[in-house]
Amino acid sequence: MRLKVLGAAAGGGLPQWNCGCANCNAARAGRIPALTQSSICVSADGESWAVINASPDIRAQIAATPELHPRALRHSPIASVLVTNGDIDHVAGLLILREKTAFDLFATPAIHAVLADNPIFGALDPAAVARRTVALERPFSPAPGLSARLFAVPGKVPLYLEGEEERLVTDAEGEQTVGVALRAEAGGPEVFYIPGCARMTPALAERLRGAALVLFDGTVWEDDEMPRAGAGAKTGKRMGHMSMRESIAAFAPLGVARKVFVHINNTNPALDPASPERAEAEAAGWTIAHDGMELAP
Ligand code: MLT
Ligand code: MN
Ligand code: ZN
Repeated sequence: MRLKVLGAAAGGGLPQWNCGCANCNAARAGRIPALTQSSICVSADGESWAVINASPDIRAQIAATPELHPRALRHSPIASVLVTNGDIDHVAGLLILREKTAFDLFATPAIHAVLADNPIFGALDPAAVARRTVALERPFSPAPGLSARLFAVPGKVPLYLEGEEERLVTDAEGEQTVGVALRAEAGGPEVFYIPGCARMTPALAERLRGAALVLFDGTVWEDDEMPRAGAGAKTGKRMGHMSMRESIAAFAPLGVARKVFVHINNTNPALDPASPERAEAEAAGWTIAHDGMELAP
């Protein structure tokens, strides 16, 4: 199996258009690498690829990834797109893929319902893009030789469906927010991709115990990082994300061989390679992902 990080940032990217935080300014100045928004691609044969999450940056991500370039006049090595929730940073890129090249679009029934409710996604010609519904815990093949399984993780509905604040549940487990287990049909270890997760449940801990590779929600370093930085009112929890600090502690007893943070918000101090937070994460065995990073499980 081959796995590449197309975009390591959370929604907004690094730098974010309207942000003058230390990280965004450092990225603009070229002192730390800029990052595009949340996506990976996976392949069993290196020829056909599954893209997991269609970020608003997908056009630039494809351009920067030779494996995803056309091999004929009208062609794409992208066999499928799988989305793990209906968040804007995970679905807006579907609109970039509207030029009538065929691919399968995989999601749970609840996430497909969100897409179906948004008429703008009708721009994806149904003759080219097959919307395939997958049930939780049921294996399916998102690309030749590749097997995937979706599982519920605690999370919330997308920002644009939140409704009344008082009724919002930010760590519901169901079909709205999922993780993905990936495996090459020819054999090899199972790999987990979980770009959003509100908390570590006992069931999730057991699922991940002893895994060869986990790519995990690294949105914020500390729950109150955005309010404290003056960069927004929301905590990590309010956004449906556990903090890196919590994740480092939750993973410590799980014996996961390779732990990689993805979906990293631009305010997260661990994005700066010179920060004490980066050193602390690395000392705990974590890698902070960057765009173009290849992980061979
Ligand atoms: C999130 O991960 O919390 C969302 O992508 C936030 C957003 O929609 O901007
Ligand atoms: Mn996001
Ligand atoms: Zn910023």
